Amino acid sequence: MADRPRTTSIANKINMNFWLKKLTSYIFIDVFIMGAAFATFMWYCQNHLTQPDNILERYFIRCNTWHIEDICFKVKYIDGTSQVFPAGPALSYFLPAFTCLIIFELLGLLGALFHAGEIRKQLKPLNDLAIRTEQISRGNFSDASISDLEVAINHVNVDNPEVHVKSGNSDLTSIEVALNNLLKKMEESKRQQTRFVSDASHELRTPISVIQGYVNMLDRWGKSDPQVLEEAIEALKNESEHMKELIEQLLFLARGDSGRQNLNMVEMDLNEIVTEVYDESLMIDPDHEYKLVVNEMQPCNFTGDIAMVKQSMRILVQNAAKYSGKGDTIKLSAKRETNGVSYIVQDEGIGMTESDVSHIFERFYRSDVARNSESGGSGLGLSIAKWIVDAHRGSIDVLSREDFGTRFTVHFPNDMK
Ligand SMILES: Nc1ncnc2c1ncn2[C@@H]1O[C@H](COP(=O)(O)OP(=O)(O)OP(=O)(O)O)[C@@H](O)[C@H]1O
Ligand SMILES: [Mg+2]
Repeated sequence: MADRPRTTSIANKINMNFWLKKLTSYIFIDVFIMGAAFATFMWYCQNHLTQPDNILERYFIRCNTWHIEDICFKVKYIDGTSQVFPAGPALSYFLPAFTCLIIFELLGLLGALFHAGEIRKQLKPLNDLAIRTEQISRGNFSDASISDLEVAINHVNVDNPEVHVKSGNSDLTSIEVALNNLLKKMEESKRQQTRFVSDASHELRTPISVIQGYVNMLDRWGKSDPQVLEEAIEALKNESEHMKELIEQLLFLARGDSGRQNLNMVEMDLNEIVTEVYDESLMIDPDHEYKLVVNEMQPCNFTGDIAMVKQSMRILVQNAAKYSGKGDTIKLSAKRETNGVSYIVQDEGIGMTESDVSHIFERFYRSDVARNSESGGSGLGLSIAKWIVDAHRGSIDVLSREDFGTRFTVHFPNDMK
């Protein structure tokens, strides 16, 4: 195959680099050993001088031949005498060991020259992948393959999750997998959208039915009966308020889904936000004990949208109040973490089962206990809180035990990238 030499040249390059590195390290070791041997010889001569204080000059001479073992170190003294140290005996210990080392190094370098084949073998899967990717990017498919794929795609219908792209052509497997994954995501998103629309219509129909019922009642008997009139007006006020809230929640999520929910990011101190929500809760909810834990000496600075962060906190505090008894304590706190900041809303309320916890962020989800209780709600609060936290690249941890209480911990990272 024409693409094969690619690995060969890469393998050769890798091998050459490896070989040169090896050669450099051997040269370095050899020079070091020779230097050490020379220093040892000089040290020996120095320690065996007969008149170390009367030296006139010192130099290397040849004793017989210019062979390395015939070289001598000569020292001349002031009184005309001299001393000669032959290198031969010292070298007779050093040379054989050094020669062995050189042979070993040469063998190592020679062996390393032939490593390219092994490296090429290791690189083969990478090479195959590169060749395959290039083929796909070049669109190197036969007309028959393309028509197989067209037929398979024509059979697909997003409304029927059973039918997937399957051309039966093994060359197209990777494209089929990618297309089927995309289809799966489209199916899931379509299913979620359909469920959201049907849940939203159902939730909106309920208050409208109640309003219609009271309007009919007023029409028949209310005009003359002040008690019916008062009851109907109260109910109409409540229902229209509920409907307004629901529509606002739906609009928030719709804006979020379509990417039109803008965040106004500014530097803020989470301690201040928690304190504000605490003060406001004290004022509007006399039925619970509120407790605040913040360390004013340690600011919890981070960048976020103040109004949104506050909204997420209010949603959690409202839930804590709604799902706990009169007089129960609700604790709000904020703290700095290694990579960001976090706030906690903790209650002593009804708590949730594990299965409830796994669904509470789904739109319109309400636990059976919440549904059967008097507390109203549409099950959208936590979806909104989650959207806000996700938009800040944060996360929410939930710890809950039935009849014991619930703790929501919301983390915001410092680095939003
Ligand atoms: N602190 C809590 N203690 C116990 N259950 C909770 C708590 N917070 C949330 N839940 C459960 O999670 C469900 C979803 O909460 P969410 O806030 O989304 O909806 P909601 O409170 O029912 O309605 P609303 O849209 O008005 O907020 C609740 O119905 C309840 O079952
Ligand atoms: Mg709620």
